[in-house]
Amino acid sequence: MCGIIGIVGTAPVQDRLLESLKRLEYRGYDSAGIAGVVGGKIERRRAKGKIRALEDVLAAQPLKAMVGIGHTRWATHGAPTEANAHPHQAGKVTLVHNGIIENFAELRRELEAKGRSFESQTDTEVIAHLLDTNLAAGLEPLAALKATLDRLHGAYAIAVLIEGHEDLILGARRGSPLVVGYGSGEMFLGSDALAVGPFTTRIAYLEEGDYVAIDHNSASIFNELGQAVIREMRVVSPSAALVERGNYRHFMEKEIHDQPDACQHTLSAYLDPVSGKATAPGGVDFAKVDRIQIIACGTAFYAGLISRYLFERLARIPVDVEVASEFRYREPPVTPGTLAIVVSQSGETADTLAALRWCKGQGLQTAAVVNVHESTMAREADVLFPTHAGPEIGVASTKAFTSQVAALTALAIAAGAARGMFDATEEARLSRLLLEAPRLIAQSIAVEDAIRALAPDLAKARDVLYFGRGAMSALALEGALKLKEISYIHAEGYAAGELKHGPIALIDEATPVIVIAPSDALYEKTMSNMSEVMARGGPIILFTDAEGAENAPAGVKVIVVPTCDPLVAPLVFSAPIQLLAYHVAVQKGADVDQPRNLAKSVTVE
Ligand code: F6R
Repeated sequence: MCGIIGIVGTAPVQDRLLESLKRLEYRGYDSAGIAGVVGGKIERRRAKGKIRALEDVLAAQPLKAMVGIGHTRWATHGAPTEANAHPHQAGKVTLVHNGIIENFAELRRELEAKGRSFESQTDTEVIAHLLDTNLAAGLEPLAALKATLDRLHGAYAIAVLIEGHEDLILGARRGSPLVVGYGSGEMFLGSDALAVGPFTTRIAYLEEGDYVAIDHNSASIFNELGQAVIREMRVVSPSAALVERGNYRHFMEKEIHDQPDACQHTLSAYLDPVSGKATAPGGVDFAKVDRIQIIACGTAFYAGLISRYLFERLARIPVDVEVASEFRYREPPVTPGTLAIVVSQSGETADTLAALRWCKGQGLQTAAVVNVHESTMAREADVLFPTHAGPEIGVASTKAFTSQVAALTALAIAAGAARGMFDATEEARLSRLLLEAPRLIAQSIAVEDAIRALAPDLAKARDVLYFGRGAMSALALEGALKLKEISYIHAEGYAAGELKHGPIALIDEATPVIVIAPSDALYEKTMSNMSEVMARGGPIILFTDAEGAENAPAGVKVIVVPTCDPLVAPLVFSAPIQLLAYHVAVQKGADVDQPRNLAKSVTVE
């Protein structure tokens, strides 16, 4: 979940390391640091907090290096202090690390017994000491690296400088991603294509267990057996390399507004607007699927929950949805004919990836709904179901979520058609309804002013509850997550029918209740639940359509969302729910794009 970058340059690297770290800040922002070779010696600069703090350090003490490495940290072992900030140094070795070394305590004890002393509480520092020990024993850098990696259990992507080797950065990956970037007369290592995006679009993805040495002109890559290998060099799209906030105040705001485009691009991979045909990419034959197991974390899990309603209704396939951190250790009995679908924006989330691998190991057909198409999940799943949301920088997922819902809705239509649940005319009608979603999402974003006006009051709340029924109960969970993660207001989502089984005890005048209720078959039922809240003095904000607004009880604040078919309601109601969280967080002066304690890509368990 940390971000790493390395540059073997022909020009000063300080500003480029910083530029790259800013792009990687979405992976963590507890501390940052860089190191470089200056006059044959390795110097480093580190600071607690965001890249801004490191910039201040560098303004006072620039790093005049042509070869360097950098890191932005999401703390796992050790508090976010300067001493725990990367790069870490031991003897001739200076390195940055993303991942977790699970056997670090044992290695540290062993190294301390040999007289090594440690200056941080991190797991990373043991790698530096081990490598330095191997170099001191007379091994060449690559052999010393291999001997070091052989001792590590856990996950790592590393970039390493070695004193006395000025035209060299070593790297390695297992469990955490690392790419090699090819420039002209310069070479790069980075956590992803975004990291090296400003410098090159020519990259190679290292595979599990690979390690590498880069110099000015080349990369020598080895697999975990120590055999020299070639990893295909690809040219990534410049859009992955160019991420700008434009005129928006925050990436999250921009990404909410990007949703009509993101969903449209995504749907174009599944739906033919002329024939109205829905197709599952990768040749998945839903007629042969008896059961679907969806596995994901956080917001992606809620996208999966929403899709259960659609797969079951349209395709009559039983669907289980589970958070990856539980699924992977529960190791449930599997039945042949199950299609396992992982859902992930990043395609790197450790628990989801482990669940995917477990399903593959059980012989299940696997598919990945993934936004980063070169990610590990995208490459390892049997089939890629792409979302085309473009890079999502705000830590709180918005456009990736709706793109996941869009892709899964299209797949539910494709599944229903493949299983003969409806004819081609109905398939075309459903496809066209779904293709209307981007226009309706744009209209739903247009209610932003009304939502902004609610923010000052809501920002005063200590607790907020979200209710909905059907797929909207899953959106209630997502709405609550969005609010709590960016505004730090405690929020919970519930299926509206559950209200009287416990949560109603929380209702009082100071606990706002957000109700998500399009005027569908369940509207009346949700209205009854709303009355129960009102009878106990709970202030209500109702998100509904024009008809729902007409039938809403007096005294309720109403946000009117475009009228739409239930098929697309989760998509159309998402943006207003996200905007509510966004404006409350802005009202509270919170750090919207980088909420405390979070990171965008969770590559640790
Ligand atoms: C919340 C959020 C997270 C992610 C979760 C999974 O706004 O973004 O809950 O959804 O960490 O991440 P991915 O989708 O990359 O697997």
